[in-house]
Amino acid sequence: MEFIRYYLHQSLNRNRDSGSCRGIENNQKKPYNERGLRFSSLVQLNADNWKRGVLKMRDYENINLRHENREKPRAYYIPYDTAEKALAGVKEDSAYYCSLNGTWRFKHFERDIDVPEEISSWDQIDVPSCWQLRGYGKPVYTNVNYPHPVDPPYMPDDNECGVYNRDFILNDTWGGRQTYIVFEGVSSCLYLYINGRYAGKSQGSHMQAEFNITSFVSKGINQVTVKVLKWCMGSYLEDQDFFRLSGIFRDVYLLSREPGHIRDVEIHADMKEISVSVEHYEIYSNGIKLDKIEEPILWNAEQPHLYTVLVKGQTEYIPFKVGMREVRISERNELLINGVAVKLKGVNHHDTHPTDGYYMSDDFMRQELLKMKELNINCIRTSHYPPPPQFIQMCDELGFYVIDEADVETHGFYNRRPFAGYDVQEYPGWLCNLPEWQDVFVERMERMVERDKNSPSVIMWSTGNESGYGQNHAAMIRWARERDPSRLIHCEDASRMGVYGVTDVYSRMYLSVDELEKTALNHQINQPVYLCEYAHAMGNGPGDTSDYVELFYQYPHLIGGCIWEWADHTILAEGVQKYGGDFGELTHDGNFCCDGLVFSDRSFKAGSLNAKYAYQNFTTSLTGTCLKVTNRFDFTNLDAFKLVLSLMVDGAILSSEDYRISIEPHESSFIELPFDLPNSCKYGLYLNVQLYDENDKEIGMRQHKLNCQIIPVATSVPLSLTETDATIEACGNGFSYTFNKHYGCLESIIKNGTEQLAGMVKLTVWRAPTDNDRRVKHKWGLFDDNQGGENLNKLFSKVYHCSVAGNRITVDGSLAGIARRPFFRYAASYTFTEDGMIAIELKGKLAEDFTTFLPRLGFEIQTTAVNDTFTYFGMGYKENYCDMNRHAKVGMYSSSAEKEYVRYIVPQEHGNHSQTKWLKMGGGLKFIADEVFEFSVSEYTAQALTEASHTNKLVKSKGTNIRIDYKVSGIGSNSCGPELIHKYRLDERDIRFKFYIS
Ligand code: GAL
Ligand code: MG
Repeated sequence: MEFIRYYLHQSLNRNRDSGSCRGIENNQKKPYNERGLRFSSLVQLNADNWKRGVLKMRDYENINLRHENREKPRAYYIPYDTAEKALAGVKEDSAYYCSLNGTWRFKHFERDIDVPEEISSWDQIDVPSCWQLRGYGKPVYTNVNYPHPVDPPYMPDDNECGVYNRDFILNDTWGGRQTYIVFEGVSSCLYLYINGRYAGKSQGSHMQAEFNITSFVSKGINQVTVKVLKWCMGSYLEDQDFFRLSGIFRDVYLLSREPGHIRDVEIHADMKEISVSVEHYEIYSNGIKLDKIEEPILWNAEQPHLYTVLVKGQTEYIPFKVGMREVRISERNELLINGVAVKLKGVNHHDTHPTDGYYMSDDFMRQELLKMKELNINCIRTSHYPPPPQFIQMCDELGFYVIDEADVETHGFYNRRPFAGYDVQEYPGWLCNLPEWQDVFVERMERMVERDKNSPSVIMWSTGNESGYGQNHAAMIRWARERDPSRLIHCEDASRMGVYGVTDVYSRMYLSVDELEKTALNHQINQPVYLCEYAHAMGNGPGDTSDYVELFYQYPHLIGGCIWEWADHTILAEGVQKYGGDFGELTHDGNFCCDGLVFSDRSFKAGSLNAKYAYQNFTTSLTGTCLKVTNRFDFTNLDAFKLVLSLMVDGAILSSEDYRISIEPHESSFIELPFDLPNSCKYGLYLNVQLYDENDKEIGMRQHKLNCQIIPVATSVPLSLTETDATIEACGNGFSYTFNKHYGCLESIIKNGTEQLAGMVKLTVWRAPTDNDRRVKHKWGLFDDNQGGENLNKLFSKVYHCSVAGNRITVDGSLAGIARRPFFRYAASYTFTEDGMIAIELKGKLAEDFTTFLPRLGFEIQTTAVNDTFTYFGMGYKENYCDMNRHAKVGMYSSSAEKEYVRYIVPQEHGNHSQTKWLKMGGGLKFIADEVFEFSVSEYTAQALTEASHTNKLVKSKGTNIRIDYKVSGIGSNSCGPELIHKYRLDERDIRFKFYIS
């Protein structure tokens, strides 16, 4: 039955309207003008001020006028007209719910003072959306800096404004009842007008604002107008690191409520019982009504069992999905969920979509949560504001531990004058210190807690992010503790400033692995230790995630952490992923918004998969032929999954065995390898251990190298060489090589009549800096200014001596950056045999006074083949580095230069494969080593990758670029996190590297 009709178009690019409120055509000439709707009320305040020649404080700057007529916060719910519909929980089916999402009339003004008395011509916009992503105004990406002066509560006089307007029809059935309008998210503030009358206002972008509009509406056509401003005083609390966007960016809807309806419902569900704050309700489990909960089925992130509490009014039914669970801290400072010590393997989540900005559809959110599940993520910090309520509900349903964060960040005070920093104690002007801002802070905690209080997924309330720590935080914490003692309280600012005890966890961000261990051993910190941010996932990365995870498992009171952050916040425009600076911003933070564990379309990169396997719920260790398997699930027996052991010889699976073994959570068991092991092999013998879920999806994997005699590379008899003035020639059956004496390197390799090389083979050390190299790159290279680096990107190769004796060429040489002393001196030998093999051996010394570590060291070879294919025995199939390889296995793989490319938003180093024994190019070149080497194959040179700012600016080489490396330094997460761990740096002083080309 249709209760309400309203005018609208279908959404411009997606259908956001559904259910009982089917739209009818929006007609621009329809009644809103005939009915004489005037906008004087919209502009009165500013216009009046100017007319009188007195500029009072602007309404939106007035701390005491933050909201009007807004309902008190309450638990999120949707009322239904029947119990059946309520239990099914499809809100669009409720006769008492009417979505106002869809096409609205819209007018954008550069300045709010330009809003006229009457708007006669309108554009259209889809709601929810951000107007900067619909062609109005410009997105601004800034991290710490406020995009305006720091002069609270004042905002720039030119304040952009969007006026939204649409009709809706109120049907008879809503008569005699209460009508509410609910906004789930509007940035930065809204003024509401119903049928031309001012009906209320609100600010606080990421929180619900509900207004009772009963006295403003009547049967038939009604009209809602919303004036949204880009800035208001509340924006000072919303200095999160993201694109600054504006508009009605979350759902808007109407609710029809019975007179004297239930307002708020509070449900406590612990391990024994569910108690509900209202009188009339029923409890259901799996669709069956329960008289009593005999044997509670507890909620946890692995098995998120939900009960439905159906609250009954006179004519309305309100469903709540609740979970029975308990959150507690043990005496050892473990995090206990239902008494079980749990590790948080988390990620920070911002609401971001490549074309919709802050708006994410329900479908999109569900998809991304499922992707998190795929990566073994069990925890989400909703950085740095409450997400849409549906997001929390999905976390309840799918099973995540949520750190729900209040919409508070004032990071920009840090930069309010040059080098101010966190001077919270010295400078009383930080908003967390100002008594008049206390209510503003507390209100944000209150609105979040009240909205999400019934959700089992929420285990901690967070006061916000990067705002200093002051009395206003203390007030937030006091309020939350009193209101909800059942959950923990998080405030990184307090922990960082050494204020212990006020929170329940000691929370820090970006500690190094060493610092984390020191923290774990620091007895002064008598709290669970939690990393609210770690493993900064910018670009190619993050590396070393598993070093952290293993430490979490080593110390009971290290309860885990959240990778920074879930997805790149780029804006997809003109087919290009754009970031800060692409929109002409006055201040911006470049590509710091491209720091996702997944790309903006939520596709995975190597760093995502590395995290998946670092977070996996089982681990193994091998002693001799005895495999120890440990279950890292907290609530699930490992026999829910299939464990497969396989024996791989030289890349081929020789034999494999499936197991279902019962291992209780946190327990271990042993398996004797069921294989006959060969005594020798060509490349390597490995044990692969894989865990599969019920859909046969791999959810975990470990690889162990097994002892096996590896047959050394065989070469034939010496080949005689011919020396000319400039070169040394080596010719044999089907090949001919030319060595350049002047440059001390190979300059031509002809195989079967085809020249393989497009240039000389060069010994180099540069890699196109990754985002995580953004600091160390100034030590490595010479960029715009001479910053005291080793200038490795402007490399000079010097040959002091080159001679031939028998079938061997020897070279003495060095490498130096421009203007610097040589940093690497070496002796290289090239030994030729009749089978066409060249054994290359490099013995070198890194200068004692070298000031950094090497990006990599090895040979760069550009071949003539375009987009060459290749096969290798090494780590694959995805790129991997010494500290980012949990996702990779040694094996036999094939690929091509093009397939190796990874679309990092800013082009950078990628495509490395470590632990390689053998590589064969489609063009004919072969590389092999007695030990191992690392390699990459690319259509781009390191220089091209270094220079391009966006992928569309990248220029391909004519041929294929092959890199055969002794070693490549790890990836780390130093874009924001600590420096690369020492063991992952290439900083050995004595280097020996041998491999063969043929
Ligand atoms: C943290 C901050 C995050 C983000 C990150 C850098 O300090 O809490 O919001 O800015 O740094 O990507
Ligand atoms: Mg910040």
